[in-house]
Amino acid sequence: MDLELKEEHKLLSNMVRDFAEAEIAPIAAKIDEEEEFPVEIHKKLAELGLNAITIPEEYGGSGMDTVAFALAIMELARVSASIAVTQSVTNMVAEGIYRFGNEEQKRKYLPKIASGEYIAASFALTEPWAGSDAGSIRTTATKEGDYYVINGSKIFITSGAYAGVMMVAVVTDKTKGKHGISVLLVEKDTPGVIIGKEEKKMGQRGSNTVEIAFDNCKVPLENLLGNEGDGFKIMLADLDGGRIGIGALACGVMRACLEEMVKYSKGRVQFGQPIANFQAIQWMIADTATELEAAEMMVLKAAYLKDLFLQGKGGRFTKEASMAKLFATEAANRAAYRAVQVHGGYGYSREFPVERFYRDIRVTTIYEGTSEIQRIVIARHLM
Ligand code: CAA
Repeated sequence: MDLELKEEHKLLSNMVRDFAEAEIAPIAAKIDEEEEFPVEIHKKLAELGLNAITIPEEYGGSGMDTVAFALAIMELARVSASIAVTQSVTNMVAEGIYRFGNEEQKRKYLPKIASGEYIAASFALTEPWAGSDAGSIRTTATKEGDYYVINGSKIFITSGAYAGVMMVAVVTDKTKGKHGISVLLVEKDTPGVIIGKEEKKMGQRGSNTVEIAFDNCKVPLENLLGNEGDGFKIMLADLDGGRIGIGALACGVMRACLEEMVKYSKGRVQFGQPIANFQAIQWMIADTATELEAAEMMVLKAAYLKDLFLQGKGGRFTKEASMAKLFATEAANRAAYRAVQVHGGYGYSREFPVERFYRDIRVTTIYEGTSEIQRIVIARHLM
């Protein structure tokens, strides 16, 4: 067992950290405050090879592994969870196309995602009546000649207004339940794609989250990803990888919380001494550092297992991905709570970044499968 990161991983981590500190940190509070999707930053992230980290170079990707992906997301999230989630979802969609697409689809879409011609990509699964119960979606796609005609609506779609292409889960055969679900690749400018209201969110407000309606939206039959009826499994299998990304995001926010707690407690004087001298504060810092260590190990282990799985050298990593997401996101929420607590009244003020971390981290136990769903997935694998 080798717990040491490879040289290429360290180099990537350092590169992303340097970029995040130089270019993202100065605008992180502003994009939150103004609910702005930072287009220029996402173009630069694509130029750095961070839109399609695990996609082979022959399709324009960076040809790295999932450990590299997780490390990059950690570094982005340490500075801005908004930017990290956009990148995580874009990479998840690129990977869905790579794993389940045919050669033509890979050649058509992956270079555009990787290069930033498509600055983002979306994963359109959730509907107003189908959240945790993703198998109950109602958006339909009916075959008409050489086309599928899509009707229905999706909600909470990350990057929806900016995505060049999206994976859209649709019902192609109502008689077959979950086995009647398929995935279509839909380009944003396709007539009949209607980008609806943007969510006013509690946190991660520099990411874009929208409703999308499909009104007689025609897409060619060749845009079917994988086989008809395999769509539910494709979405869930792709989400296994996405959940590693959200676990990594949580680790990044947790690290930022830890750093801010240490910094503030050393500078803040009460009762004639820095509050860092008090055991109550030290315990909060120690617990956060310990949980961060555990969360990072779990996320990187899930990433490593995913790489083995993709190389045909290991079994499915679904359980480990869910465990990593569950633990990291719950622990990060505890960390953000403590970080605000250590800052006292100042932690409740927007002048200090922990206020943003507290709001940003809340959704991580909800999206890409709630903590309750992760527990169901884990328990099913154990029983
Ligand atoms: N990989 C491959 N196949 C899988 C799988 C996986 N991880 N999980 C399940 N399957 C297969 C099952 O083997 C089963 O196959 P058969 O029918 O052939 O036996 C089929 O899929 C159906 O599985 P289940 O019967 O277990 O399905 P279920 O209806 O009980 O649902 C669930 C399972 C785990 C609850 C699932 O619905 C789920 O994960 N729900 C949460 C949805 C979710 O995460 N949404 C996130 C939205 S995207 C998002 O948030 C992104 C963002 O923008 C930030």
